[in-house]
Amino acid sequence: MDGNGRWAGKRGLPRSAGHAAGAETFRRVATYCKEIGIEYLTVYAFSTENWKRPPEEVSTIMELLDKYLREALLKMERDRVKMRFFGDMSLLSPGLRRLIEETEEVSGRFEGVQVNICVNYGGRDEILRAAGSYAADVAAGLVPSGGRPDEATFSRYMYSSGIPDPDLIIRPSGEMRLSNFLLWQSAYSELYFTDVLWPDFDERELDRAIIAFQARHRRYGGIV
Ligand code: IPE
Ligand code: MG
Repeated sequence: MDGNGRWAGKRGLPRSAGHAAGAETFRRVATYCKEIGIEYLTVYAFSTENWKRPPEEVSTIMELLDKYLREALLKMERDRVKMRFFGDMSLLSPGLRRLIEETEEVSGRFEGVQVNICVNYGGRDEILRAAGSYAADVAAGLVPSGGRPDEATFSRYMYSSGIPDPDLIIRPSGEMRLSNFLLWQSAYSELYFTDVLWPDFDERELDRAIIAFQARHRRYGGIV
């Protein structure tokens, strides 16, 4: 969800206004995904590298997440969106961690669309964490020792355990890189780049991305 800061800058607004607008866009896009039958939506809200930002900006983003979750919990029965969080939650405030746990617990029974929110998430961090958990399971005798895991087994150690790899990854705001997003899972994802800044992203932009995706020819290394 990139481009919040530039969106605000273009309007002479503080960066926090861009993040607030971006949060609204997220709400709208998640609702639209449910309407059109998308099964999984995974958004990158805050990376393991975003802590480098000024503390006021980090606080703004965390406060917006807090506000979003409180509202989502109130409207849970109406929206019926299953929500999960990917990332290392140990660095978040205890209050936010509790809200995240409650959201996952209360929304766990909903079916239709699952929204995964990446918070303090890094693709490399996720892979290292998976390797550590796998090694711990080997040491505990829970998985066979001596060999190496196969891809399916190792995938179960990722935050995305049990969730299919993304078909399509959309990067807004004109940047053409993955920036540590879903490095393991994106091996065969179709990538779509748009200059649209995240707060300006909407239903039509998602339609455009999906139409572009539908014209792609996926071969997964084969030739047919
Ligand atoms: C994305 O918008 C939001 C987060 C990374 C939390 P940015 O804040 O990166 O916006 P730009 O890239 O400065 O425009
Ligand atoms: Mg950015």
